[in-house]
Amino acid sequence: MYKFLIRPLFFLFDPEKIHHFTFSLIRFCCKIPGMKLLLKSIYVLEDRSLERNLFGLHFKNPVGLAAGFDKDARLYNELSNFGFGFIEIGTLTPKPQSGNPKKRLFRLKEDSAIINRMGFNNGGVEVAVEHLKENKGVLIGGNIGKNKVTPNDNAVDDYKICFNALFDYVDYFVVNVSSPNTPNLRALQDKEPLTDLLNALKIENSKKEVSKPILLKIAPDLTDEQLIDIIDIVSATKIDGIIATNTTISRDGLQSENKNEMGGLSGKPVTNRSTEVIRFLAEKSNKAFPIIGVGGIHSAKDAIEKIEAGADLVQLYTGFIYEGPKLIKQINKALIKKANQ
Ligand code: FNR
Repeated sequence: MYKFLIRPLFFLFDPEKIHHFTFSLIRFCCKIPGMKLLLKSIYVLEDRSLERNLFGLHFKNPVGLAAGFDKDARLYNELSNFGFGFIEIGTLTPKPQSGNPKKRLFRLKEDSAIINRMGFNNGGVEVAVEHLKENKGVLIGGNIGKNKVTPNDNAVDDYKICFNALFDYVDYFVVNVSSPNTPNLRALQDKEPLTDLLNALKIENSKKEVSKPILLKIAPDLTDEQLIDIIDIVSATKIDGIIATNTTISRDGLQSENKNEMGGLSGKPVTNRSTEVIRFLAEKSNKAFPIIGVGGIHSAKDAIEKIEAGADLVQLYTGFIYEGPKLIKQINKALIKKANQ
């Protein structure tokens, strides 16, 4: 029904407007008595073989919603009814910011892809904290970044503010230095500034009674050399894992008319590169740390390929838009089947 009815209808409208409309629709529907139960009965799959214990957390299943969909943590409770094992909110910045001028979100239908240059539009970390106080048991990742106006030299302060504000309300943290839409942000992926940033967050973490997992989200555009640096940095800073990958700046092999829009490309065109990055990290590190695999998962096969390449958990965003919510159950079903083989 989604692919033949809802998607064609939604795709008639501006992508960002439809995103907000869908939020209102899901929120409205979930207020109807019995609707949450109905959604759960359709989409949620529970099985012991799906459960994962990773960096001290228990995941009911390994399929999560990637960052950027529910930036301000407005809808995670409702979205959990679609069967996600965890939901990553953000990227959040200390102060609210409106992001780049519209139009900044583009569908590339022929390529089953999206280009976005949202630019960390979000209501600021404090607003998200208020929303997170309503959490009804969803496992939450908090994806953090810096404000556009903050120079890279002071970026550590922004990440620290977000880290401390969110600390009591999220289960794990993601340090996002890989968005292509904040000028110069990706320079923070270089060895020295990245080591400093992660060490600073580790120090904040050590001040808490019980520390929380910290992961780093990387771009798919890093060279092999840079990926080796990332492995060294994980080992040196002792962070808990990697999320691979964010959107790409590559435009290889695209057909859609929007292909030359500026921003980060997601969806099917990043599937293989993201899996390659996961495999490289897993192999070269001897699987020294957990990896969350994300990028172009549009089928159960795509998810299983990432897991076989070395991902412990997976996340989706663009596949959720193109394939609809049934994708989550399809992946979980295939994983149960695989576990029983
Ligand atoms: C994203 N993504 C993203 N990632 C992140 O760490 N912080 C963010 O704020 C956002 N924002 C965002 C907005 C939009 C519109 C899209 C499409 C994507 C990246 C996302 O989490 C994911 O890493 C990539 O999109 C690759 O996965 P998919 O979309 O191919 O499944």
